[in-house]
Amino acid sequence: MNKDAIINKLGSLPSSWVDFLEKNILDKIPAVQKEIEKQTNDLMEELDKTIRPYDGRYQKHVELPSKGVSYDEIRKQMREIVEEESQRWGGGYCSGTVYHGYQEHIDFMNEVYNINSQTNPLHSDLFPSIAKYEAEIVSMTANMLGAKDCADKVCGAVTSGGTESILMAIKTYRDYARKEKGITKPEMIIPITAHVAFNKAAEYLKIKLRRIPVDKNFQVDVKKLEKAINSNTIVIVGSAPQFPQGVVDSIPKLSKLAIKYNVGLHVDSCLGGFILPWIKKLGYNVPTFDFSLDGVTSISADTHKYGFAPKGTSVVLYRTEKLRSYQYFTYTEWPGGIYFSPTMAGSRSGALSAACWASLVSIGEEGFMNIAKNIMTAANTIKKGIDAIPELKILGEPFYNISFTTTNSEHNIFEILDFMGERHWNLNGLIRPNCIHICLTNAQTKEGVAERFVEDLKEAVEKVKNNKEKKSGGMAPVYGLASSMPLRGSVSTLLKKYMDALYRV
Ligand SMILES: Cc1ncc(COP(=O)(O)O)c(C=O)c1O
Repeated sequence: MNKDAIINKLGSLPSSWVDFLEKNILDKIPAVQKEIEKQTNDLMEELDKTIRPYDGRYQKHVELPSKGVSYDEIRKQMREIVEEESQRWGGGYCSGTVYHGYQEHIDFMNEVYNINSQTNPLHSDLFPSIAKYEAEIVSMTANMLGAKDCADKVCGAVTSGGTESILMAIKTYRDYARKEKGITKPEMIIPITAHVAFNKAAEYLKIKLRRIPVDKNFQVDVKKLEKAINSNTIVIVGSAPQFPQGVVDSIPKLSKLAIKYNVGLHVDSCLGGFILPWIKKLGYNVPTFDFSLDGVTSISADTHKYGFAPKGTSVVLYRTEKLRSYQYFTYTEWPGGIYFSPTMAGSRSGALSAACWASLVSIGEEGFMNIAKNIMTAANTIKKGIDAIPELKILGEPFYNISFTTTNSEHNIFEILDFMGERHWNLNGLIRPNCIHICLTNAQTKEGVAERFVEDLKEAVEKVKNNKEKKSGGMAPVYGLASSMPLRGSVSTLLKKYMDALYRV
C-alpha cells in the first residue's frame, strides 16, 4: 500500500483515532509531512490569487503616509470600491451576509450611525441614551422570544455579534457552575451542527466539549445527548436553527433533559431569533424553542442578521438575573477607577446599538411579518426548483436556510458551487456531509432573484454532468481537500496560512 492509499484509508477511521495517529505518528514521518506541505502550498498559491484584487489599482500604505490623504480622495476611492463590492449582495447573489439589502433601510441605518457616532456605552453617565436603547433592545428581544410566557424575569445584554453572545453565555455557565455547584472541570454538550463559536468558547474558556451526532433529519440525537450528561455538565446546547442545514433541533426534548438533570440549556437562535417567531405566526410548523419552555435558560439572537441592524450587535438573554450576574465583570481595586462592563469589550460603539434600536423600532411587528412572508415565498420557489432537479436533493426540512447535495456521488457538489460562483452567486460550501447552502435574506425577495437562482442551478448541474475533464482551479479543490483530508491538522495549517495571507499588504 503506498503513502496516498494509507492517507486515504485514514479517512474511514473515527476522527479521534486519526487525531491521535496524526499527532503521535504521522506528523513525525518526513514523507507525510512533505506531501502535506506540498498540497497545502499548492492550494495556498491558488487561494492567494483571490485575496488582493486591488493590487495595482490603488496605492498601498505600508507605512503611515507622511502627509494625510485628503478626505475627498479617500471618499472617492471607497465609493468606487463599495460600488463594485455591493453588486453581488445588492443583487441578491449572497447567502446570508447582508440581511436587509434594500437601499432605503441601509441609508437610514447610516444616518442613525452618523447621528450617534461619538457615543460609547462604557460611559453610561455621558450617554444614557445608549443605555436606554440597549435596555429596550433586550426587552423587545426577550418579549419576542417567550418572556411573556415565562414566570422568571428574562433579562440579557447587547453584544457585538453571535460569537460574542455565545462566548458570554458559556462563560456565564462556567462561572455559575463553579460558584453554585462546585464544578471545577466543566463540560458542555453540543450537537456537531452547533455553530463553531461553541468550539471557540470551549477552546478560549477551557471547557471540555462533547459533540453529539445528528439523526437523519440533521437534528441532534437526543438519546445520545442524554447519555453524555454527567456531573460536570454545565450546559447543553440546541440550535434554532443550526447553520449548516437550517434545521431546528428538538428544543422541547432538550428542555425536558435540562430540567431532569438540572443543567443549563442554551438555545442558539443567532440565525433564527428574529425570523422564526414571525414564520411561526405565518402558520408554518416551527417547533417551540423559546423561554416558554421551562428548561431554556439562555438564548442568543442576532440583531445584525434578521433584526436588519448593521453588523456589530446581537443579544444574549438569560432566564434569570442571577444567571446573568455571572456574565458581568467588575473590578474595584484598579488605580484607574472602579470598573464594570457587562460584555467582553471595554469601549465600544454606541452608534451600533442606536442603529440596532432604530432598525427594530422602524420595522416593527408588521414589517418583520412582511419580510418573513417574502423570504418564505422565495424559499418555497427555491425548494420547489431544487426538488425538480433529479441530480440534487435537499437535506433535512429547512425553512429559509436551504442546503442541498447531489444524489449521485459522481457529481461533485463543490464543482456546482464553483459554477454558481461564475454566475456571481456567493453560496456556502459545507462538509460532513458535503453540501451547499443558501441562507435566504431579504435581498433574495427582490424580483426574479429566486427564479434566477433556480435557472443558474439547473445550468450548473448540466455543466457538471457533462464536464468530462474535471474542473481545476476555483474553490472546489479547497472544499474537496477540507472534506476529504483525513489529517485535520494540515487543513488547520492551510487555514492559518490563509489568515497570514489576509494580513499581508
Ligand atoms: C446558528 C449561528 N450561531 C452563531 C453564529 C455566529 O454569529 P456571528 O458570525 O455574528 O458571530 C451564526 C452565524 O452565522 C449562526 O448561524
